[in-house]
Amino acid sequence: MTDPQDVTLRVEPGGRLQGCCRVPGDKSISHRAIMLGALAEGDTRITGFLEGEDCLATLKAFRAMGVEIKGPEHGEVHVSGVGLHGLKAPQRPLDVGNSGTSMRLMAGLLSGQAFDSILTGDASLTRRPMRRVTEPLARMGARIRTSDEGTPPLHIQGRASLQGVDYRMPIASAQVKSSLLLAGLYAQGQTCVTEPAPTRDHTERMLSGFGYRVQRHDGCVCLRGEGRLQGGAIDVPADISSAAFFLVGASIAADCQLRLEHVGMNPTRTGIIDILRLMGAHIQVENPREVGGEPVADLRVQSAPLRGVRIPPELVPLAIDEFPALFVAAACAQGETVLTDAEELRVKESDRIQVMAEGLNTLGIQARPTPDGIVIEGGSFTGGTVNSHGDHRVAMSFAMAGLRAQAPIRILHCANVNTSFPGFVDLAARMGLHIQQQDIQQQEGGA
Ligand code: S3P
Repeated sequence: MTDPQDVTLRVEPGGRLQGCCRVPGDKSISHRAIMLGALAEGDTRITGFLEGEDCLATLKAFRAMGVEIKGPEHGEVHVSGVGLHGLKAPQRPLDVGNSGTSMRLMAGLLSGQAFDSILTGDASLTRRPMRRVTEPLARMGARIRTSDEGTPPLHIQGRASLQGVDYRMPIASAQVKSSLLLAGLYAQGQTCVTEPAPTRDHTERMLSGFGYRVQRHDGCVCLRGEGRLQGGAIDVPADISSAAFFLVGASIAADCQLRLEHVGMNPTRTGIIDILRLMGAHIQVENPREVGGEPVADLRVQSAPLRGVRIPPELVPLAIDEFPALFVAAACAQGETVLTDAEELRVKESDRIQVMAEGLNTLGIQARPTPDGIVIEGGSFTGGTVNSHGDHRVAMSFAMAGLRAQAPIRILHCANVNTSFPGFVDLAARMGLHIQQQDIQQQEGGA
C-alpha cells in the first residue's frame, strides 16, 4: 500500500545551479534555542528558526510541558521562559518523530525534572541507540528505562537527585555531551564532559550567551548545577548542513556560480568546506562576521574538477552530517575517495554507509562499504531508482546527483526531507536543478 505521506523525487539530467539564496535555519541551534529559551527566565525571541519537522517536534514537546511559545511565523518564535524548575508534567508521551537531537538532549533535561515523562519517536528513531546517553545519565543518578536493546521509548522517572559527573565520552558526540550538560544544570556539584575529538559546541555557546557559567579547556567542558539562564535574542544562521547539498551540486555540475548567504560557520561544523577544498572545490568565504555568539559568512561556490581523497579522520566529526553529500561529490571525482573512522554513520537516520553505497551502485558507481567507512571510485552516474530509506540527507544528496546523471533519477521515500529542509524542492528548482516532487497519482501511474 502507498503511504499517503510518502513522496518520490524525480530529477532530470542536466541543469546548473546559479544565483543567490539563503537555506533554512540551523537545525542544531534551533533545537537548543527552544530548549534553553524554555528553561530561561524572561522571554527569548528567535529569528531564522528552522520550521522543519524535527525542530517543530521540540517546540511541541515544550508546549506540552506548559511553556508558552508563539510562532513560528516566517522563522520568528517567542518563547516565554519558565525557569529551570517551571516545566509541567506532560499529559501524554512526548513524540519527537524522527529527531535524535530532541530525544537525546531532552533525555538529559527531563532527568532533572520533578515529574515522570516518556520520550518516543518514529520507526527510524525507535531503532536508534540510546544507551550512549542513558548510561552516563544513570551514573549521575538518572532513572531511565529503554527497551532491552537500549532503544526508545525512554521512560524517565522524575524526582531523581542528580550528582555531577566527570565523563569521558567514548564517541565524539555533541548529542551525548549536550544531554549531560543539560542534566548537569540540575545536578549537585560539577559536571564535566571530555570529548575524544571536537564536536559541535552550540550548547556551550548558547548557555554562555544566556549568562550561564561554562568552563572550557582542552576538549573538556564543565558547569555547575543550579545556576540561572537569562532569556534573550537568538538569530539562527542558515544551516551549513543544508548548504552542503548546494556546495556539492555547484561543484560537480558545469557552469555553476552560487552564493549562499548567512551560513553558520562554527568551526565545529565546517569540515564539509575543508574536505571539498581538499578535493579541489572552489569555495570562497565572504563577509565573515559574528551573530549572537556564532560565526556566520556568505559562501561563493563555482564548478570545479574534483579529485578523490583520503578523508582526514580528524575532519569526520566536523562533517558528520555531510557525508551523504560528500559521497556524491566523490562519485563525480577523478580517482578514489576513502573514508575511515566514520562508523557513527551507520546509526544515523539510516545506515548511511550501506544506504548510500546501494544507491551509488544502482547509479553505476563503484562504492564499497567498509565497517567504518566507504571506498568510492569516481565515475559517471547512469540513471535509475534509488531508495533513500526515509533519510532526508540521503534523499537530498541523490537529488544533486541528477546534475551529472545521464538519465532521470527517481528517489523513493523522501517525505522526511521536511525534517531538516522544508522547501528544498522549490529552492533547488529555483536555483536550477531539474527536480520535481511526484504525487501519489503520478507514482501509481508509474510516471
Ligand atoms: C547533532 C549532533 C550530531 C548530528 C546531529 C545533530 C546535535 O549527532 O549528527 O544531526 O545537534 O547535537 P551526534 O552528536 O550523535 O554525532
